[in-house]
Amino acid sequence: MRVRRRRLCFIQIADQTVPDLGALFSGEVKLESRPSAELLCPVSGEALHVSGPELALLSRLPATDWTDAESLIEDGSIDLQGLRDLIGRRVLLSDADATSAAIVEAEARFESLGWYDLTAVYHAMTRWTEVRDEELDSEHTPEAHRERLEHNCKQYGPPPTHFPRREDAHSVHPLALPAFDSTLAQTLRARRTTRSFDTAKRLPLDELAYVLYGCFGAQGTQELAPGTTAVKRTSASGGGLTPIDPYPLVMKVQGLEPGLYHYDMSRHVLELLRAMSEEQARSLLTDVTAGQDYFADSHAAIIHVARFNRHHWKYRWHKKAYKALLMDSAHLSQTFYLLATERRLGAFYTAAINDQDLGRHLGLDPLEAAAVGVSGIGIAGDGVHAALHFEPEPYMPSPGNP
Ligand SMILES: Cc1cc2nc3c(=O)[nH]c(=O)nc-3n(C[C@H](O)[C@H](O)[C@H](O)COP(=O)(O)O)c2cc1C
Repeated sequence: MRVRRRRLCFIQIADQTVPDLGALFSGEVKLESRPSAELLCPVSGEALHVSGPELALLSRLPATDWTDAESLIEDGSIDLQGLRDLIGRRVLLSDADATSAAIVEAEARFESLGWYDLTAVYHAMTRWTEVRDEELDSEHTPEAHRERLEHNCKQYGPPPTHFPRREDAHSVHPLALPAFDSTLAQTLRARRTTRSFDTAKRLPLDELAYVLYGCFGAQGTQELAPGTTAVKRTSASGGGLTPIDPYPLVMKVQGLEPGLYHYDMSRHVLELLRAMSEEQARSLLTDVTAGQDYFADSHAAIIHVARFNRHHWKYRWHKKAYKALLMDSAHLSQTFYLLATERRLGAFYTAAINDQDLGRHLGLDPLEAAAVGVSGIGIAGDGVHAALHFEPEPYMPSPGNP
């Protein structure tokens, strides 16, 4: 048997708080901090605990070549049982093990997909499955939200100022305040996040078609090189790659079965992937937005799926690729908000999503594509959650303001 280290693993050494056993024997309850190492594996998303001696062994084993297991046993690096244990825990790979073979293949495929390794670790380690976010839960009422902010003020002091100024500026130049009353300005001003929807009403299909086309629709194409076509949307897109693919989850839209769809921008059609009842669709949306049930009252949600394979095809092993991809979703979010506002509809965007579960529901290959955000649209309501809307006091900037 031959063994090798896993490729692309990052080591995290963190202090773990554990009971002090010595103190426990003398009847005392005491906690102590002990460093503990984990291998963070972006390919599988695993965090594997490893001991100090195991870490020392790993640091001597190459990942590109296989090492004869016999030689490790002979030179006293490890015994057979320890070796089997490391292979069983997927810390070491063996050329005589089916699980190892699958990891070897996944690692090779991962490397060919052009992920920058640090962002791959970040991406893999920040995925959510079945999370019901307690902080979001505690923001379900304005009182709870205020309590949380007050708690933070007590604990961490007040937040950094909301109006940052540079005391080291050489001079200050007042600007004329523009009229800012065009149709676009009015739409921008009216834009807001809606958290209360009228669940009794159906959203007209034309409204959904309007925002889908206006936000995610193909407005033009350009062949940049043979076989390489850029698609123009109404939002900017890093490298012109338009790598965000929209998947509508329909709750209550006229003439459309509730369920999970894919919007094909080339034909402006909805492809039904899974029909479900309105209740199932709402329950799915609550689950995948980490318990934000006010969003589940909306009429349709659009899952933004980032196609890493298309983005990384151009930006291979690129340090900024992941950031740019998230920003693509952000641009689309704003366009979506504005189109909904123009139609006097409510809209929202959330990044607090169970992306891992969404990937399963949509049948995505996690190395190639993942959900990064969810936009939503609907007929606004005046239910209890209307109190969660952000209702600011008007503000007038002026050079004389304190
Ligand atoms: C990246 C991003 C993530 C957001 N995630 C959530 C969320 O998880 N839940 C939520 O209720 N609102 C979410 N929002 C909406 C913000 O809370 C909202 O934009 C902010 O409070 C300002 O209110 P406004 O949109 O009405 O101006 C998100 C907005 C952005 C841009």
